[in-house]
Amino acid sequence: MSDSDSANAPKKLFIKTYGCQMNVYDSERMGDALGVSGYQQVDSPEGADMILLNTCHIREKAAEKIYSELGRFRPLKEANPDLKIGVAGCVAQAEGEEIIRRQPMVDLVVGPQAYHRLPKMLEHIKDGGHVVDTDFPEEDKFTLLPRGPKAKRAPSAFLTVQEGCDKFCAFCVVPYTRGAEVSRPPARLLDEARDLIERGVVEITLLGQNVNAYEADGWSLARLLREMAKLDGLERLRFTTSHPNDMGDDLIAAFGEEEKLMPYLHLPVQSGSDKVLKAMNRKHTAESYLRLLERIRAARPDIALSGDFIVGFPGEEEADFQATLELCKEVRYAAAYSFKYSPRPGTPAADRAHVDESTKGERLKRLQTLLTEHQFDFQQSMVGKTMPVLLERAGRDPGQMVGKSPYLHAVHMKAEAGLAGKIVQATILHSERNSLAGKVV
Ligand code: 5AD
Ligand code: SF4
Repeated sequence: MSDSDSANAPKKLFIKTYGCQMNVYDSERMGDALGVSGYQQVDSPEGADMILLNTCHIREKAAEKIYSELGRFRPLKEANPDLKIGVAGCVAQAEGEEIIRRQPMVDLVVGPQAYHRLPKMLEHIKDGGHVVDTDFPEEDKFTLLPRGPKAKRAPSAFLTVQEGCDKFCAFCVVPYTRGAEVSRPPARLLDEARDLIERGVVEITLLGQNVNAYEADGWSLARLLREMAKLDGLERLRFTTSHPNDMGDDLIAAFGEEEKLMPYLHLPVQSGSDKVLKAMNRKHTAESYLRLLERIRAARPDIALSGDFIVGFPGEEEADFQATLELCKEVRYAAAYSFKYSPRPGTPAADRAHVDESTKGERLKRLQTLLTEHQFDFQQSMVGKTMPVLLERAGRDPGQMVGKSPYLHAVHMKAEAGLAGKIVQATILHSERNSLAGKVV
């Protein structure tokens, strides 16, 4: 930044984040880093000096949505030619130069592995240049991203510990857009956790595309969790997203032994049919998944399980779909995310014969009806119980706050705003559609 720049008022930065929690973390870190370059974040694109779209490419039409979103920014760019527009995230990685070819008003395209180069890129685009950086450099981008002053943070934070995936599920773009598995060194992660705690964070969710494959300096995810749990001031730990084949014995044991590790596990299975699981290249069966859940439940009987499902994968027949319903009935997930299969160019399944859209739609509806019923049952089973709730933010009504249960439910209750960041004992009074209502005891 030049001296004349620093004399000016802060420039306004609008970041819009799509997709997963890893993008949320990346956006926070990019916001911090651009803060050091003189940008202050704002809530709307109107009047911004820079707009950054942090994109997701996991399902269909992602790129088209980004192009139409960019089209909506055209009048803003026409009104303010100094407005800088950047595209980050997985669409940036997948589309690269094509984005600037189709939308020449875009100044900057940056893939998820190159965010630490953002401050340099800003220098480049200052005088009208364009930059496209979709490299996979060796350096740890997060350590190199400037942090900015110690601003107070919300009580819960994400911390990316691992990126990329080596599993190559036949439907998934992640191994292509985020690259091979890379784990960040434990010492840096412990430092970053301490920094978050100093900023008021009491709950940390460790993130990775395949987080339980974490391995760095001989540390497993279980060891990282156990060491993090020793940090004073940190009350709760979670991690997501995991692959069944990487649920090691030490990680399962941690659920039973580590008090700060919350009883919630997101463990996608995708399908209950062995034929489909094989075609998906999942490298596990429905049975091996169910046996794994038995071991996890033996370690932590109250654990809440959640999963991801894809319906209408190429080759899925009614009997295969039935097997998925059966698996769900056996597990009874506390929460679940289900999607129609959407072909992703460049992935092995994209060129296979597809299930027709109406069958996909009909199966999704049936699956979601069942999953919602289980989710409600699980919520209902909380009623009358007393549990620790982390108060996080103001609620709908004055004098109300929203907190988080150990099982990741939003809990509404009467509480003073000053209690944000505190864990209170609360009794659950009743279950609402997507949340619980409770009272402090
Ligand atoms: N089509 C539909 N759903 C997908 N997912 C990943 N790729 C696809 C795809 N091509 C889902 C999986 C994954 C979640 C993050 O998104 O269920 O676990
Ligand atoms: Fe994608 Fe997850 Fe499979 Fe990796 S394990 S390829 S991220 S669905």
